[in-house]
Amino acid sequence: MTLTGNWSYPTAIRFGAGRIRELADACRAAGIRKPLLVTDRGLAPLEITTRALDLLEEAGLGRALFAEVDPNPNERNLEAGVDVFRAGAHDGVIAFGGGSGLDLGKMVAFMARQSRPIWDFEDIGDWWTRADADAIAPIVAVPTTAGTGSEVGRASVITNSQTHVKKIIFHPRVLPSVVIADPELTVGMPKAITAGTGLDAFAHCVEAFSSPHYHPMSHGIALEGMRLVIENLPRVYDRPDDIEARANMMSAAAMGAVAFQKGLGAIHAMSHPVGALFNTHHGTTNAVCMPAVLDLNEPQIRDRFDRAAPYLGIDGGYDGFRAFVQAFNDRFGIPRKLSALGVSPARIGDMVAMALEDPSCGGNPVALTTDNLRSLFEAAI
Ligand SMILES: NC(=O)c1ccc[n+]([C@@H]2O[C@H](COP(=O)([O-])OP(=O)(O)OC[C@H]3O[C@@H](n4cnc5c(N)ncnc54)[C@H](O)[C@@H]3O)[C@@H](O)[C@H]2O)c1
Ligand SMILES: [Fe+2]
Repeated sequence: MTLTGNWSYPTAIRFGAGRIRELADACRAAGIRKPLLVTDRGLAPLEITTRALDLLEEAGLGRALFAEVDPNPNERNLEAGVDVFRAGAHDGVIAFGGGSGLDLGKMVAFMARQSRPIWDFEDIGDWWTRADADAIAPIVAVPTTAGTGSEVGRASVITNSQTHVKKIIFHPRVLPSVVIADPELTVGMPKAITAGTGLDAFAHCVEAFSSPHYHPMSHGIALEGMRLVIENLPRVYDRPDDIEARANMMSAAAMGAVAFQKGLGAIHAMSHPVGALFNTHHGTTNAVCMPAVLDLNEPQIRDRFDRAAPYLGIDGGYDGFRAFVQAFNDRFGIPRKLSALGVSPARIGDMVAMALEDPSCGGNPVALTTDNLRSLFEAAI
């Protein structure tokens, strides 16, 4: 079966294998004539990136690339990108990559013509209204991993390189105008990135599904997103060129990001400080944290996972799901402890303090405190 479609929710999505061919047309649809393609260092030399640049050049849209972007991108990457955007008189951004390239690209478009510093737009209260919305350049997003769902998100995660804190920067107009979701672009991911990014999508769905907030639309999307990851991540891990399974993972990633409008939780509250202090891969970090977080939340989430488990093809209700999660991680070679990712227990005090400040805390079904976060980090490290 060919999985393809033109969707308008939550933004215009051109979904299907090979649709990167429509890149120039997507730029025109977004009102972009002189795009800057923003991606990360690792992707810059790869064929999927040079091919995208070829497509732009052939269509007369120039060939402009900015790739000085680190994994877990920071404000220095952003400033350099904004300089290139301004110097080249660009009128829009193609945010291309995994979460790192997508998030930084979205921020280049956002910050290109703002006068206030990036940290003034953190996702707190109505801080986003401080931005000049009309000055935000249009964005076409092209995911090359199936994990963060940043292509359909209104926020970017940017690390403050001075304080080593990951900040969520939010504006409704940071939602890309057009997305090209082409599963063929994800085929070349290293196995560990396929697993780690897929488990990020899974964490988004699990945390959204666990969140106590009232948002039935997102709740339903989270449930189907979990099913898609459970059924398709093993397939793409074993057979990287299984395009149908890659397509389902790409859908699950977008669904996770839509679902977490309902809330995230302790997994992400832990993972943000860990990633900021130790530069670990985000989705892999989430996967290591998930078992301990499920144990903490169990009294509040048991009933809903009892109901979900049969739909997910898992016997034994919540207990079956809990056992499944550990086995799922093991299948993909995810370490059981954060220490294997280089995380040191010496920083637990700092990580607890940073986690308490993280906006993801608000969606956890059990209120997070210094004590229970310390226990979570001790269990996970
Ligand atoms: N905006 C959001 O809502 C949101 C949500 C979750 C995570 N994030 C952020 O996203 C970032 C993580 O993104 P990620 O997990 O997608 O990883 P990533 O973007 O950092 O990419 C990981 C590595 O994979 C490589 N890569 C990506 N696609 C590839 C491909 N198709 N073929 C070969 N190599 C490829 C990259 O070059 C990089 O080295 C973190 O900064 C995280 O905080 C953002
Ligand atoms: Fe995430």
